[in-house]
Amino acid sequence: MILVTGGAGFIGANFVLDWLAQGDEPVLNLDKLTYAGNRENLASLDGDARHTFVHGDIGDSALVADLLARHQPRAVINFAAESHVDRSIHGPEAFIQTNVVGTLRLLEAVRAYWGGLNADAQAAFRFLHVSTDEVYGSLAPTDPAFTEDHVFEPNSPYSASKAASDHLVRAWHHTYGLPVLTTNCSNNYGPYHFPEKLIPLMIVNALAGKPLPIYGDGQQVRDWLYVKDHCSAIRRVLEAGRVGETYNVGGWNEKPNLDIVHTVCGLLDELRPRADGQSYSGQITYVKDRPGHDRRYAIDARKLERELGWKPAETFDTGIRKTVQWYLANPEWVAHVQSGAYRDWVQTQYAGASA
Ligand code: NAD
Ligand code: DAU
Repeated sequence: MILVTGGAGFIGANFVLDWLAQGDEPVLNLDKLTYAGNRENLASLDGDARHTFVHGDIGDSALVADLLARHQPRAVINFAAESHVDRSIHGPEAFIQTNVVGTLRLLEAVRAYWGGLNADAQAAFRFLHVSTDEVYGSLAPTDPAFTEDHVFEPNSPYSASKAASDHLVRAWHHTYGLPVLTTNCSNNYGPYHFPEKLIPLMIVNALAGKPLPIYGDGQQVRDWLYVKDHCSAIRRVLEAGRVGETYNVGGWNEKPNLDIVHTVCGLLDELRPRADGQSYSGQITYVKDRPGHDRRYAIDARKLERELGWKPAETFDTGIRKTVQWYLANPEWVAHVQSGAYRDWVQTQYAGASA
């Protein structure tokens, strides 16, 4: 079996669902159920004996040690993290606690467990750390895309905490020989994406008749990857990645934020036209920029393609259409995640944010 951490969040839940759709190897899923964790993402696995959910913290060393000893996983895939840049600006502490201290404690528990395995099991074991392109910092318009050799220049509390965790993972391999793999992926989008992030926020705000808040001039560039392509990359790296290596994951889909929002509006105009016949793009509103806002990310994923033969299955056009369709088909999921805590966050981030 495999141990997945953070498997009730956006990417983790997609990963668990895809894993069990493609095979029968059981998943032990450890998740703290922060505001971003949602058991509803895994509702289709209710009663499925291949999935065991444990409510807990990766920083709880005793709990993790007990889970490892009892379930004897052959791999750990670490998705658990605080993941939202804007929240890290309002309150960095939780990011250090989970992304740095939590990863440290998880690594230590895994190292102790791994050290007690027999030689064959030790050789087969993998610790796969899921990280982000944001550790590399920000690119100028004509810079080449990030390769795995790019310097680390994290600019936000979130990316600094992820960079720290990447360094810990690297050191645990170099110093202790723990068989680790790290993936650094670009921006994901798709089903179960929490509507604090750009694409789902724009979809739910558009449908609710609310403003579509664009930070600054909206010309910041992100490199978008459909979440299921990220999941297939992680499976491939787990299967065949070289121990100690990092792999960049991306789909060569660089787009300015404003283009993304116009694309979302265009799809909604087609699939769920506004009652007044106007375009949703009329709801676009420019608001104050994010402090320290990274201008451009772009991932060079050629190492993953060259060494492991991975390629994304979706183009941006196919992936974004599926995503908008998913949100239109799942209004209950959307309503449930917009709890009191979500409304508090929207108030904190957007009230009085006009440009
Ligand atoms: P998310 O915020 O949607 O989900 C994070 C999950 O981790 C939640 O279920 C949460 O409850 C859980 N969690 C948080 N703290 C925990 C703790 N201390 N112990 C156990 N569980 C805890 O995040 P996501 O977007 O699914 O991202 C998953 C991972 O992928 C993160 O490590 C993130 O840095 C990385 N990543 C995300 C993207 C992206 O575009 N979303 C891109 C590249 C990398
Ligand atoms: O690059 C990978 C990273 O992508 C992941 O590591 C992070 O976990 C994930 O949250 C994401 O970070 P971003 O900051 O790029 O994503 P976000 O959806 O928050 O913002 C995308 C862009 O849209 C960014 O330039 C900020 C802008 N934006 C965002 C929001 C929420 C707006 O203009 N308005 C908004 O309301």
